[in-house]
Amino acid sequence: MDNREILILAIESSCDETAAAVVRNGREVLSNIIYSQIDLHTVYGGVVPEIASRKHIEKINQVIGQALKEAGTALGELSAIAVTYGPGLVGALLVGVSAAKAISFASGIPLVGVHHIEGHISANYIENQDLEPPFLCLVVSGGHTHLVGVKDYGDYRIIGRTRDDAAGEAYDKVARAIGLGYPGGPAIDRLAREGDPEAISFPRARVAESAYDFSFSGLKSAVLNYLNSCRMKGIEINAADVAASFQKAVVDVLVGHSMEAVRQYGYDRLAIAGGVASNSSLRDAFREACKEKKIAFYHPSPIFCTDNAAMIGTAAYYEYQRGVRHGWDLNAVPGLRLGERV
Ligand code: KG4
Ligand code: ZN
Repeated sequence: MDNREILILAIESSCDETAAAVVRNGREVLSNIIYSQIDLHTVYGGVVPEIASRKHIEKINQVIGQALKEAGTALGELSAIAVTYGPGLVGALLVGVSAAKAISFASGIPLVGVHHIEGHISANYIENQDLEPPFLCLVVSGGHTHLVGVKDYGDYRIIGRTRDDAAGEAYDKVARAIGLGYPGGPAIDRLAREGDPEAISFPRARVAESAYDFSFSGLKSAVLNYLNSCRMKGIEINAADVAASFQKAVVDVLVGHSMEAVRQYGYDRLAIAGGVASNSSLRDAFREACKEKKIAFYHPSPIFCTDNAAMIGTAAYYEYQRGVRHGWDLNAVPGLRLGERV
């Protein structure tokens, strides 16, 4: 076992955040720089891939420089350069991958490619020093909804996944329909606090053959139909009630499936990850359900829930310790599957 300090520079550019971080020994974040492009995409109501790629190119060197400076780390002290190489937008991923490869090539420092979702899961290690596998993790983001058994570091078993929309995607689409901007998750989270979650009865979809899979497109359609029928009948829409009732339906399903999986698979720890994991109502519901069932509950702070590079540095540390090194032929893999190693 290597007793040296392991300092990792991590880079993340899979969607609309250009991010770099320096992480020491896996769980200590020395810097965490995030340049969010959200304002640029808001006017279009969602992420425009071409704009995202161009902005990543403009920002990446600056963000990496700032991460090293804030951490007080010189390139020569690094043990590895880590980078998200999938899944995500191909043009966006390529910017981070190219930057990481260039630094690795010029400095001779080893390159470690990281799976974006493994990064989200690993965000839980940063503020929970006691957390170790095995545990169950619900990953809920703009592009993914996965129920994952974390058997060991780097060893995952997918227990459930969405059949259509991701949870965050449903939030964003419903937010748009009720006139809230992008990203819709935080806006619905806020507005729902003023609404009645029991006001409107929206469906809680079950996927027939699989108890742990999710489906959110029916719920999204139900909200759209409700809004249309109100408009046609001239009934005034209470947006806060719609937000609260929609959110309740999402939270019920996410918590219900997760608690069932915890029981069925015999886990005693449950973590949540991804942008939607910063949702206050989801956290409250999990806290309560886990307390009742005597399950330890973990979640990252909001800054480590949405896309960031610190989580990539943490995931990379465990990959690095297992001997994973990538060559300079590392490529972006937009459809990279969880647990897949290419
Ligand atoms: O993990 P993330 O930053 O990017 C992906 O990997 O997709 O997640 C972004 C998603 C967006 O859909 C956003 O609306 C949602 O996370 N989100 C939230 C909240 N904050 C962000 N959804 C619900 N409640 C929130 N507070
Ligand atoms: Zn993400």
